Amino acid sequence: MSTTYHRLDDGDQTQVWMSVEAGMPQLLYWGDSLPADCDMSTLGRALQAAVPHGGLDVAESVSWLPEPGRGFTDEPGLALRRGAHHLYTRFSLESAQATDQGWTFHLRDPGAALSLELHIELHAGSGVLSAHCRLTNDGCDALGVDALASLALPLPTRLRERLSLTGRWAAEFQAAREPVGRAAWVQESRVGRTSHHAYPGLVLMEAGTHATQGEAWSLQLAWSGNHRLIVQALRGGGLQMQAAELLLPGEVTLEPGECLKSPTVHLCRSPAGLRALSLRWHRFLRERVVPKPRGPRLVQLNSWEAAYFDHDCLRMQALAHRAAGLGVERFVLDDGWFAGRRDDRAGLGDWEPCPERYPQGLAPLGARCQALGLQFGLWVEPEGVSRDSALYRDHPDWILSVPGLEQPLGRHQYVLNLGLGDARDYLWRKLSELLRSAPIQFLKWDMNRDMTHAAGPGGASAVRQHVLGLYRLMDDLRQAFPSLEIETCASGGARADLGILQRTSRIWVSDCNDPLERQRMHRAALTFLPAELMGVHIGAARSHTTGRYADIGLRTLASLFGHPGIEADPITFSEAEVRHLREAISFYKAERTWLAEAEVAAIDHEDPALLATSAVAADGRRALVTVVAADRAAHAVPGPLRVPGLVAAGHYRVSPHPLWAPDPRHGKCAAGPFLPGGVVTLAGQTLHRAGVALPILHPGTGILLVLDRVR
Ligand code: GLA
Repeated sequence: MSTTYHRLDDGDQTQVWMSVEAGMPQLLYWGDSLPADCDMSTLGRALQAAVPHGGLDVAESVSWLPEPGRGFTDEPGLALRRGAHHLYTRFSLESAQATDQGWTFHLRDPGAALSLELHIELHAGSGVLSAHCRLTNDGCDALGVDALASLALPLPTRLRERLSLTGRWAAEFQAAREPVGRAAWVQESRVGRTSHHAYPGLVLMEAGTHATQGEAWSLQLAWSGNHRLIVQALRGGGLQMQAAELLLPGEVTLEPGECLKSPTVHLCRSPAGLRALSLRWHRFLRERVVPKPRGPRLVQLNSWEAAYFDHDCLRMQALAHRAAGLGVERFVLDDGWFAGRRDDRAGLGDWEPCPERYPQGLAPLGARCQALGLQFGLWVEPEGVSRDSALYRDHPDWILSVPGLEQPLGRHQYVLNLGLGDARDYLWRKLSELLRSAPIQFLKWDMNRDMTHAAGPGGASAVRQHVLGLYRLMDDLRQAFPSLEIETCASGGARADLGILQRTSRIWVSDCNDPLERQRMHRAALTFLPAELMGVHIGAARSHTTGRYADIGLRTLASLFGHPGIEADPITFSEAEVRHLREAISFYKAERTWLAEAEVAAIDHEDPALLATSAVAADGRRALVTVVAADRAAHAVPGPLRVPGLVAAGHYRVSPHPLWAPDPRHGKCAAGPFLPGGVVTLAGQTLHRAGVALPILHPGTGILLVLDRVR
């Protein structure tokens, strides 16, 4: 039987899938475009790997789902059972069908009574590829699915470094960059949400890859529940990476005729560094994933750090009034507005406005916001159920729990099982009543509980069904209330991924509003996510989560390349702070239209203390560059900052912005364009190759450079 080849091209890249002797397709080549007349079978022969000594007589091949039944002895792509029998599948390719933008492969294993579809699609423009698989039980008895990856890819061994994002509460999106080791690297979330500690995205790259140089391959799994990413050095040489939903024991059983669809994994590659990689991801998310808000991204004030649980209708109306005076455009009422909710011990699940603090419901506050020209938004945590709530008392069987077993509470609450139609219907009714009761156009949808005993009434694991139920509820609400915008929040940024982002258009990145911490988080998150999705709020001068002071200049600067807001009561700001805030907000409003489409990415400076980020307009006419000194500089005088991504032949006038300029009292610390009369005009290419000198910056301060194309 012969080998077949399936090719995908999009201008600057080629991907080739190969099926040897009608086996499972496997990636043969992914890289810069190959000539149109490249003969695939010659390429296949040219790249055929040796069979290593001392092992099996077949080369181990990383097919789409590596199969132990074909002699694969490293991490398999699937683990299936009928009763106690482990199935050693040997799928064979029955047909390959070219689709508009990709391929669908149909495979069958008649011995195991299974069929499998593999789908891959290439998105023109961003060049991102999307893949998933669907497994069907063609047999007469139940099939236990212990594991089913979305995809496995063989990695070129030259990709020796791995970048992933880890973290914890108030310190999400921490970049972890490490060499690929000899032992497998496995990253899992078993907490039923995307998690603080394991972002389901990954970059594998050549050693030393930086913003503008080095080959990088990347994936993101579009799934908001348990997940697992693996990078493994294979016994016989080579590397594989896999992305999968993590299935708990007994979580998926397919009855005869039933099928299981894996979450989609998205793939992206850059031949030229991390900046180009991020920009591809951003373009893909903007074009294909995230619902577009109806208008510009509104500057908001969120009541949490301004009032915590201590509020009522009058106090919130006054806060909204002060917010409007600063140029804020949306007021979001956070936790504490519903019955029984004086602290975090009670009330979640009942979703009725507190009769003492909001006696006429939320309509009067909504109306006041409208009168002030503000949109009105509301915090909800639909999956949360306080032990002290009517919902729990009436329906203890609706929560995720293992019958007969105590489970630890998290923030005094359980999780409502959204796999249950009754629980979903209840939430649908409560949320739609709320949305009709007041002019609410924005929901901050929170989820504050790691799942532990995540089983349904029959005792079977239920995370997967919960996540699918959540997606369904969000989809139904968005359909019924088409102008509703939803922000995804989970104790900060614990549920941000490309699954939830098909339904939500803003991410509450972290409960930490310290601008220095946020700069680090945002620059790392920018690897995978576009800037304008990231909610970033200007908090009190002394951060509530780190205790560190930051002046207002740094707080506003750190919010420019994001979706800005305020997380404080403006009454606590000094006059100078209020003046600065007003000007910063109006600057953001003037820039936000092009910023929402701009190329925003972290750029390199050799000093790790200096965090530089650039935003270049899609038409190359304007760019903004922020530089924040996160720490004491490595050298007495910083080296020049080189700015990539400008139109090479265009000429740019480079000037500091007076709102975010170095403190003039630092006199001789100025340099280059920051010197009096220092404004320069240089070609884009020169700015990339030579750069501009930076002033000496004190730790905890930052600057903004404005670059306007003049010819
Ligand atoms: C979570 C969120 C916060 C806030 C509180 C309210 O922690 O991340 O922003 O909404 O809940 O209880």
